[in-house]
Amino acid sequence: MNIAFITSEVIPFSKTGGLADVSGALPLELSKKKQNVKIFTPKYYSIDPSIHKFEYLHNISPLKIRILNRTYDVHLFKGFLPKSKIEVYFFDCPFFFHRSKFYTNDPDENERFILFSKAVIETIQRLYWAPDIVHCNDWQTGLIPLMIKSNYNWDRLFDKTATIYTIHNVAYQGKFPLDTINKAEVLGRLNFPIAKVEHNNMFNFMKAGISFADIITTVSETYAEEILTAEYGEGMEAVLNYRKSDLFGILNGVDYKIWNPKTDKLIPFNYSLDSLSGKEKNKKNLLEMFNIKMKKNVPLLGIISRLAIQKGFDLLQQIMPDILNLNINLIVLGAGEHEYEEMLNYYAKTHPHKVGLYIGYNNDLAHLIEAGSDIFLMPSRYEPCGLNQIYSLKYGTVPVVRKTGGLADTVYDWNEYNENGLDVGNGFSFVDYNSDALLHTINRAIGDYHNKTNWKKIQLNGMKRDFSWENSANKYIDLYKVAINKKTNK
Ligand code: ADP
Ligand code: GLC
Repeated sequence: MNIAFITSEVIPFSKTGGLADVSGALPLELSKKKQNVKIFTPKYYSIDPSIHKFEYLHNISPLKIRILNRTYDVHLFKGFLPKSKIEVYFFDCPFFFHRSKFYTNDPDENERFILFSKAVIETIQRLYWAPDIVHCNDWQTGLIPLMIKSNYNWDRLFDKTATIYTIHNVAYQGKFPLDTINKAEVLGRLNFPIAKVEHNNMFNFMKAGISFADIITTVSETYAEEILTAEYGEGMEAVLNYRKSDLFGILNGVDYKIWNPKTDKLIPFNYSLDSLSGKEKNKKNLLEMFNIKMKKNVPLLGIISRLAIQKGFDLLQQIMPDILNLNINLIVLGAGEHEYEEMLNYYAKTHPHKVGLYIGYNNDLAHLIEAGSDIFLMPSRYEPCGLNQIYSLKYGTVPVVRKTGGLADTVYDWNEYNENGLDVGNGFSFVDYNSDALLHTINRAIGDYHNKTNWKKIQLNGMKRDFSWENSANKYIDLYKVAINKKTNK
């Protein structure tokens, strides 16, 4: 199959979160399975074409992309996913993409991704490459299924193209004033009720994706069920229920070439199932980095996260004094909402021998925290999939999570599963979103940390479990076939 994978971020070129990891890994796995994948993504200012040895595509660029009365030059570069033959097409329009952040609150945010969407489709046309599947991800690409069905439906190239829309986070929808519909020029060519793209009087990119894609997926089975409810659907539950028979949950995988303590080049001491001694040395290294003394039998709690309400920082905030009364150390890596940065800064300043804090983005440190921590905290309010808890499992770092979304599908509570005689307990989880439940669960984890036999078992249960992309990529391929069948039988 020819698969166009369209994404607003992809490692190693651009990353704000898990979408980038998925975009770098799933296409690789698909191509191992003999699928022909090309990736399409914006070229943000921070991506340097000379470092990555991109080729400027003289033959097809600049593309002239029109939005209302203005025409923009879009420059095209071609690169490859590292150590692969997977082509990555980068779209450079300095006016729109040379900004300090990938995603902005600027008034033309809608135009940035309308331009990107049109440029992707027009590039596919110029490549004379007929995709069997156009796989879109998150709100930034939500208009593409509709555009293929409306603006560009005159082109026979797309006659057989089926579209898949993957929701990585239903809370980020791309909501803009209703005049966006004119900027995207999607009305008039396809007769459809405005409700398919409108929600609460706003034009909604995600709703367009959900309404017009042939198949919709999200990144775990539990989240696929959760988003059908008002509690998790963020207003999209009605349209998702309407499309329920076309909605599927496929758990993200992990690229173990990048996240594996046995081979990880970003940690000083490699280790594996057979011997965990390197883990202790990484812990010492990590603590030293923050000038914290390593003491025997004091568990180290780690956090790597966007500092956002989604990730449960309001719960953490309520019990920080209690956590700091425990005999533990805490190391946090994150960036995001000011309120949480302030809160963490306060505790790092007042407890310098206990708390280590790095505000900002740091991939090397993320690897070291996974390797050096004993316990990983991820008390998310909601979590479509979550990758860090899966990385933690591989690194023998026991996750403490809220039982929601992908966290519920990957972390099995030690007490719950142990009591039921199942040999798979690999972490600790709680259901009710409240700070007492979180504190109680942290205490449960610490209790077992001091029971060395239990702890080793919990660690090994996590390390043994395989969350590689192999399985999930097969599920995507099956769904691509379903989408193509749907399209052909229409
Ligand atoms: P989300 O996409 O919602 O942020 P995920 O758990 O799916 O959550 O993915 C987060 C990814 O981003 C992981 O690869 C994690 O290591 C990385 N990450 C998050 N914050 C930082 C940070 N401050 N520095 C380095 N990596 C980070
Ligand atoms: C989103 C979600 C996260 C998921 C990631 C990749 O950012 O918040 O849970 O793992 O996308 O699918």
